[in-house]
Amino acid sequence: MKKLIFAFFLPLTFSATTLAADGKALYTQKLCATCHGAEGKAPIAPMYPKLNGQNATYLLNQMKDIKSGKRNNGMSMTMKPMMAAVSESDMTAIADYLASVK
Ligand code: HEC
Repeated sequence: MKKLIFAFFLPLTFSATTLAADGKALYTQKLCATCHGAEGKAPIAPMYPKLNGQNATYLLNQMKDIKSGKRNNGMSMTMKPMMAAVSESDMTAIADYLASVK
């Protein structure tokens, strides 16, 4: 009986992970909070930016530029390696989430 229940729930868990367009969850999973703080509100250092409430399009463009190396100013090199594991659809979901945080 126990096995049956497990077999039933496993596919549900997988599909939830694959469809992860949940920006809030991604923000945590991709470790953004370790530098930018919870909800993008509390960066760990004064030269790290707050992200909440910013325009989604602007956030997305900055993430793309930091990932590609086009933006290479200030402290952006500390963030660049983190972006290797973040796809453009992840960035879009995260940008929408952050823009919605007041
Ligand atoms: C290792 C620390 C670190 C991590 C992890 C990190 N960032 Fe950053 N991020 C920075 C720093 C530092 C800057 C500012 C770069 C500069 O000085 O120009 C920045 C800049 C940004 C900007 C541009 C903000 C602006 O106002 O122009 C966005 C958007 C952003 N980060 C989003 C994210 C997201 C989303 C994640 C997770 C996928 C993430 N960051 C992970 C350190 C980090």
